Amino acid sequence: MIKKIASCIGEYKKYTILTPVIIIGEVLMEILIPFVMAQIINVGIKGSGGVQYIVKMGLLMILMATFSLICGTLAGKYAAVAGMGLAKNLRQKLFDKVQDFSFKNVDKFSTASLVTRLTTDVTNTQNAFMMIIRTAVRAPMMMIGATIMALVTNAQLSVIFFIAIPVLGIALWLIGSHAHPRFQKMLKKYDAMNASVQENLIAIRVVKAFVREKYENEKFEASADDVRKAQLYAEKIVVLNNPIMQLVMYACITSIVWFGGQLIIGQSMDVGQLSSFISYVTQILMSLMMISFIFIMCVISRASFARIAEVLGETPDIEDGPDKDAVLKDGSIVFENVSFSYHDTADTYILSDINLEISSGETIGIIGGTGSSKTSLVQLIPRLYDTTAGNVIAGGHNVKDYTLEHLRNEVAMVLQNNVLFSGTIKDNLRWGNKNATDEEITEACKAAQAHDFIMSFPKGYDTDLGQGGVNVSGGQKQRLCIARALLKKPKIIILDDSTSAVDTATDSKIRQAFREQLSDTTTIIIAQRVSSVCDADKIIVLDDGRINGIGTHEQLLESNEIYREVYQSQQKGSDE
Ligand SMILES: Nc1ncnc2c1ncn2[C@@H]1O[C@H](COP(=O)(O)OP(=O)(O)OP(=O)(O)O)[C@@H](O)[C@H]1O
Ligand SMILES: [Mg+2]
Repeated sequence: MIKKIASCIGEYKKYTILTPVIIIGEVLMEILIPFVMAQIINVGIKGSGGVQYIVKMGLLMILMATFSLICGTLAGKYAAVAGMGLAKNLRQKLFDKVQDFSFKNVDKFSTASLVTRLTTDVTNTQNAFMMIIRTAVRAPMMMIGATIMALVTNAQLSVIFFIAIPVLGIALWLIGSHAHPRFQKMLKKYDAMNASVQENLIAIRVVKAFVREKYENEKFEASADDVRKAQLYAEKIVVLNNPIMQLVMYACITSIVWFGGQLIIGQSMDVGQLSSFISYVTQILMSLMMISFIFIMCVISRASFARIAEVLGETPDIEDGPDKDAVLKDGSIVFENVSFSYHDTADTYILSDINLEISSGETIGIIGGTGSSKTSLVQLIPRLYDTTAGNVIAGGHNVKDYTLEHLRNEVAMVLQNNVLFSGTIKDNLRWGNKNATDEEITEACKAAQAHDFIMSFPKGYDTDLGQGGVNVSGGQKQRLCIARALLKKPKIIILDDSTSAVDTATDSKIRQAFREQLSDTTTIIIAQRVSSVCDADKIIVLDDGRINGIGTHEQLLESNEIYREVYQSQQKGSDE
């Protein structure tokens, strides 16, 4: 774990090392000051030193205190720089990693949990790290230094804290070992709360449309309360730390004053020694307190850092293929005995025994009831998921051979639940191809039947879409997404229910434009409406993850019962 954190410190290594080094200066001064104090009392006040000695030693003490203050301030500053730097690096690493994740990796962690890991968990780690570099050297050094000085001052009295230290040690260990699992649980509750916030905010319009605010409020309150309870449960143990510390500390001081007083009466110790002895004992116990505090921070951050490490250690399950130079030579697609399930452990397949051959430039329609695995089937082509068994061949190579960038540039998929990003229409379209010229953009928008409505906006292509594309209608958004995919000039384009919110007349214009302008591009259209696919070269009927029939509209009307039923029910709907 320490190794992993160390690898994230990067350019902040200097500050990480400087902090404890500077602290050595601070601690040295703190240990020596009580010694000087004892000298002032014994030599200056009680002895023969006189005022001159007191002033001299007093000035020395001020000098030492100033030096100690400067060191402390600098160390605090450097610790903060190092801690925040570590947090930045950790976040960057996590973010980079998540960018490499496949859909399956993201499914595994859930978006909400990834958000907690990038925020709360990193902050916990940062705090612990700052604390550790400031005190990991300071506390033990102060403890050892003060112990030596105390022993030198009076070995007899030192017995008191040699009894106190093991008592404290055992108490701390008990606290830590009980607190760790409780903090782990608490972080899981954080995940759940973040999930609730995120889901609600993303779908705030739906929440309002269904007047679910009250319900959502209650749901959130419940999860916020869960976090509160989990935190309380964990902190309940940790708060014991302080009273136990205090108890031991005061018990020590009381006994030292008691026994020390007797020693003074018996003339085997003087007042100056007792006063510096009390300072040393306070320092020893303070450093123990610091150690216990670091200990608690480590307990909390261990749970957090483990969660960060889990993300960093995850291997993206879809990576670039071995052949950097492989290129899709055309838009042909072959499915060879393909089976697929979302979970490796599942014993039933979502797609079973799919065999398909699609020639380059063909237009393919896919029809099937909801949940019949239409989306699952086409996601295998741009490798959003990998097949569980069998192969998908596109453009002459197995899709696993290509680099992801090349494959996904050549296979454009308009997702079923697509999103636009904040920015102008043009910015969003350039996602498809950042070098697209204005003419290319207009051409793509014309094909997607988006040009006319874009021009109807006062700012045209420079219209600001607002976050998530809230400023356009559902059908307009779908057409912008199609245009964005077209700008990639892909060899294969997949429209997953991408015209569901577009009226039938516009839908047919889009298909006509595709036929005329994209005759070389393999087009796969998933649709609920038979009218969207009836003029395709081939229509695939999917039923429960299996191919139920393949053929042209006429052939399927003849031979395929499912297709006929869908067609007839939709005909009846439109006749009525
Ligand atoms: N990310 C996922 N993880 C696990 N199971 C999933 C996931 N996505 C879909 N499924 C399951 O796979 C099956 C097929 O889903 P798929 O989305 O492919 O259907 P579809 O034919 O596209 O449906 P629709 O017409 O509603 O879009 C469903 O039973 C669904 O529950
Ligand atoms: Mg679907």
